[in-house]
Amino acid sequence: MGQAQQKRIVLGLTGGIAAYKAAELTRLLVKQGMEVQVAMTEAACHFITPATMQALSGRPVLVNQWDAADNGMAHIDASRAADAIVIAPATADFIAKLAHGLADDLLSTLCLARDCPLLVAPAMNRQMWENAATQRNIRQLVADGVTLLGPASGMQACGEEGMGRMLEPAELAHDVLTFFQPKPLSGVKVLLTAGPTYEAIDAVRGITNRSSGKMGYAIAQAALELGAQVTLVSGPTALARPQGVQVVDVTSAAEMFAAVQQHAADADIFIGVAAVADYRVAQPSEQKIKKSADKLTLELIHNPDILAYVANLPKPPFCVGFAAESENLREHAAQKRRAKKLPLLAANLAQQAIGADENELVLFDDAGEHVLPRADKLTLARALLQHMIKLFQKG
Ligand code: CTP
Repeated sequence: MGQAQQKRIVLGLTGGIAAYKAAELTRLLVKQGMEVQVAMTEAACHFITPATMQALSGRPVLVNQWDAADNGMAHIDASRAADAIVIAPATADFIAKLAHGLADDLLSTLCLARDCPLLVAPAMNRQMWENAATQRNIRQLVADGVTLLGPASGMQACGEEGMGRMLEPAELAHDVLTFFQPKPLSGVKVLLTAGPTYEAIDAVRGITNRSSGKMGYAIAQAALELGAQVTLVSGPTALARPQGVQVVDVTSAAEMFAAVQQHAADADIFIGVAAVADYRVAQPSEQKIKKSADKLTLELIHNPDILAYVANLPKPPFCVGFAAESENLREHAAQKRRAKKLPLLAANLAQQAIGADENELVLFDDAGEHVLPRADKLTLARALLQHMIKLFQKG
């Protein structure tokens, strides 16, 4: 926490139902030792009162641009004093204003007049989020150097389900804190594989597995938070792409191998999280196979071991492997680490891990084993990378 304790945040609220979550966010930021100056749009005041925000932040809330109580320069003063401005919730309308540099109320003026970083937590109905105009505005904000916090996918106030929900206060507080922390992977290139692969049998059928890609995507996100430049080679998943990560979409193990070969020479760290199919069909049929025959025999041949290939390059990046075992986790994992010559391997029980939101990992390295207790995959990813950084920096 150290450094963050003295940080000054301007927390901007705009008019969305998620504004009620800003109360808890304020409480958490203050608890983390930050000084929080709340600024609200008129619309935000319809969802939560400035009195609530004032009580939680311990300072008068900025709302009115024309308030004569100060020297009329609140927009300049507040943004000059801030180490960052955080907009949570940020409506589609406010995001559009930011993207176009409008300044027609106190909060938007404050954003335009800032000389500090801007962090934006979108909160809106999924169709507003998916709208081409919003997506265009979001791309513009990212190009302008604005940091996006979320959004998440899930149940929405309108009863619909999808992308656009604001992150929970605890996640936002964590992200704000992380934003101020040192970036130990700054300038480091991390290459990751994630998700399942799909090996075609014929034009419409194939062999795959139940990997969701959640662990790999969580590691990509965690590496990004630590300042890394992340390339994620992803098999087919239903997950949203982490903003700021370069994603290379692949389907089969052969495609994943080709993409990794292309990027490996440039990588400082390689993390193989994908559940790569060990075998593929020797001769997939271009046409759909008819059910006319009584018996159908498929010949399967080995796929290349992508992780082993990278670990055996003449100048390999620092390699981290995963092992999904269904039994004898410790023996199998330790043996796999030796066989693939990996400085670090993370093992989990396949039946608990695959597709789940939570997991438990056992890390194996030269010093022995380290248990990362059950947690959501992003928390685990962060802990795994903290452990990895120590080894990476030593090597
Ligand atoms: N892996 C890979 N390419 C493959 C198979 C596995 O890169 N063709 C990587 C995975 O991403 C993971 C590690 O190797 O990091 C271990 O994968 P796993 O399937 O658990 O082990 P295998 O080595 O395939 O051995 P087995 O299936 O016999 O347990």
